[in-house]
Amino acid sequence: MTDSQNGAREPVRVYFTGTCEGLDKLREALSNHPELEVVGASAQVSQASSVLAGGHLGCVLHATNSPSLPAAELAAIREQTAAPVIVLASGAPSTLLEEALEADVSDVLLLPQLTDNVVFAIRKASHAGRKLAAQGGHGRYGKIVTVFAPKGGTGKTSIATNLAASLAKHSGKRTLLLDLDLQFGDAAIMLGLEPEKTIYDLVVAPGELDSEKLAGYITRHQCGLEILPAPLRPEDAELVTEAKLGRLLEVARDSYDVIVVDTSPFFHGPMLATLDRTDELLLLCGLDVPTLKNVRLSLQTLELLSFPPDRIKLVLNRANSKVGMKPKEVESALEREIGFEIPSDRIVPLAVNRGNPAVLAEPKAEFSKAIRAMAKDLVASQAVAKQKKKFMATLARA
Ligand SMILES: Nc1ncnc2c1ncn2[C@@H]1O[C@H](COP(=O)(O)OP(=O)(O)O)[C@@H](O)[C@H]1O
Ligand SMILES: [Mg+2]
Repeated sequence: MTDSQNGAREPVRVYFTGTCEGLDKLREALSNHPELEVVGASAQVSQASSVLAGGHLGCVLHATNSPSLPAAELAAIREQTAAPVIVLASGAPSTLLEEALEADVSDVLLLPQLTDNVVFAIRKASHAGRKLAAQGGHGRYGKIVTVFAPKGGTGKTSIATNLAASLAKHSGKRTLLLDLDLQFGDAAIMLGLEPEKTIYDLVVAPGELDSEKLAGYITRHQCGLEILPAPLRPEDAELVTEAKLGRLLEVARDSYDVIVVDTSPFFHGPMLATLDRTDELLLLCGLDVPTLKNVRLSLQTLELLSFPPDRIKLVLNRANSKVGMKPKEVESALEREIGFEIPSDRIVPLAVNRGNPAVLAEPKAEFSKAIRAMAKDLVASQAVAKQKKKFMATLARA
């Protein structure tokens, strides 16, 4: 039974930053509250960047002893996450309340407060934040599907390009393929495209980013798929900052049904910004011990980042390879079920060299069937999520 069916609410994931008088007591009370999930706390915002970016937080509570608004710290929080922020203050906040009216904070609470008042403020802020995100721009709320593997050559780009092409061609979804292998991205080449503009041109272009501007930097494949390629030169990668990428993903959500993100094998800043917005993480593994070891480490890192485990799907690539290891052994080594199995197929490298994804060139091949099944599943789970959202909205109105 889901939470919405049995009447219980999903707990709001909260994180504490900063310090103020009375904070410890409040934190303890909130830790035991059934409507909240306290993900953690850090006195210094700078030490919390990974959780803020990757923790899928419903609300950040920033505590301060200062009588004025802690603008620098709030800006540092904003750089990492779009989650609503509530300021907790103690003492006599002389200008704080006035300043907060102008700032991007959901609420200011002067401690001490009744626990239930704080919980209500958190629920309200988190609800408003979600509504705002869902209503953004043209009303679409694209699903972000990130394809990751901790090792090169695992098949990230092959799977990301084929999956994206299948979503565009067979599922009729407006699909963007975003190449975030920023130094050595080859998604465009695998699709046989020679892009004139890349993500680099987009991020260095002056002015605010919106859907129209994004459309000006897109390259189209004949199957209907749209792609924003990686920079042409490795040295241009560092200009794609977390803040720019965060904004780009939000804008892409307004324009596309699905955004498939190809990645590099690292948990660097842009990857953390992507994880913060990822709805489904396809974590690739193979039937070899070094890859398994690295996938295991990745799962541990994701746990440290507080990435929600139910958003991770394990994908076993080259699942039919006869290499003395069975899919079941992968499952027990990783203590996790395999979500999708993709067979090894020589049409994959053949199609790469021809610059046309296998799923389009050889639709009857086993590889293509497995990719289409995966695309279908992603679209189906998107429909369920949308239905659930609608149902919750109806409940809230009732
Ligand atoms: N299921 C598969 N069957 C056959 N070849 C594959 C398969 N998946 C990937 N490959 C091949 O493996 C190589 C590396 O894949 P690639 O997608 O570039 O990996 P990554 O992006 O993780 O570095 C490519 O030449 C690709 O054609
Ligand atoms: Mg790649």
